[in-house]
Amino acid sequence: MPTSNAKKSRILTGIQPSGDMQLGNYLGAVKHWVMNQDIQTNFIPVVDLHSITVKQDPEELSRNTLSLVAMLIACGVDPEKSTLFIQSHISAHAVLSWILNCTTPVGWLERMIQYKEKSHNQERVSTGLLTYPILMAADILIYDADEVPVGEDQKQHVELTRDIAERFNNLYGETFVLPKAVVPKVGARVMGLDNPSLKMSKSYAHIRGHAISMLDDPKEIDRSIKRAVTDSFNEICFSSDKERAGVNNLLGIYQVITGKTFTEVENDFNDARGYGDLKSRVSEVVISEIEPIQKRYHELINNSPELESLIQKGDDLAKQYADPKLDVVLGKVGLHRNGHSGV
Ligand code: TYM
Repeated sequence: MPTSNAKKSRILTGIQPSGDMQLGNYLGAVKHWVMNQDIQTNFIPVVDLHSITVKQDPEELSRNTLSLVAMLIACGVDPEKSTLFIQSHISAHAVLSWILNCTTPVGWLERMIQYKEKSHNQERVSTGLLTYPILMAADILIYDADEVPVGEDQKQHVELTRDIAERFNNLYGETFVLPKAVVPKVGARVMGLDNPSLKMSKSYAHIRGHAISMLDDPKEIDRSIKRAVTDSFNEICFSSDKERAGVNNLLGIYQVITGKTFTEVENDFNDARGYGDLKSRVSEVVISEIEPIQKRYHELINNSPELESLIQKGDDLAKQYADPKLDVVLGKVGLHRNGHSGV
């Protein structure tokens, strides 16, 4: 049992500003960051450098970055409790990333599932897409984070981060904390409503009925859930059967939002008359969760000076941790620092 003076775990976790945040990001990640921000020290960068590993419209990227900061705060990330900042504003991330590029074997990167998925069928794949997990490792290691709360899809990258840290420590002496991924028991993999065999993702946001954007209006949310793919079993229960993945997904969404146990969730649907009822009730809880978030978002996004000043505060705090850590690393590697040395 942790006591009141037990050391808080240090968390680092990031989110990309490519497109609007979707329900999977919220339920698999952001909601958990918010729930734990009183008992952990949270560092939350909006990882714009990761976004440019695939082509972005520059104006849109800049707009989306501010919009994501507003959305994270609207979801409950409290800048007084969590250090919320923009990755590209802290140049130490990119410098550390380069150093780790030089110690990481390329074969480790080629094995990454996300790289294989994203580069599949692409005519031109940027080097950045391959080295993406090294930048992610730099994000984590520069804050000495011991835990990294992520959805299931990012677990492999966090495991690679441990290997990268271990290798550096072996080469240059004890420098980095070995972090571990923390994946939630429910909601870690919210699936596409149109295709429950695929993870809900911003990359498929152009496909109608695939994802729920946190900025969709309630009618659109209701339409997407009502159109969700189910099955012909007509039985409302959790199941690992692939053919029942659609119903399982809807129940999972309901469960994360209500915070109920598996049995309580199934009991809630004892009196339901078929999948129509299931969808109506899921739609109700999703809308009542998202509506107040949207209201706060719209208030915040119309006050960009306030947002800019919150970002500045987050950046300043992040630098206080990242810059001295980078100095230590530069010293270990033997890069000249005008009198500074980390050795
Ligand atoms: P990103 O921006 O794709 O997603 C942000 C977070 O949302 C989770 N997530 C999901 N969880 C459940 N179901 C889904 N359908 C779903 N889709 C996304 C992701 O697992 C993630 O936790 N590479 C990272 C960003 C990153 C990062 C980091 C994360 C950069 N540096 C350092 C942790 C630590 C990414 O692209 O997340």
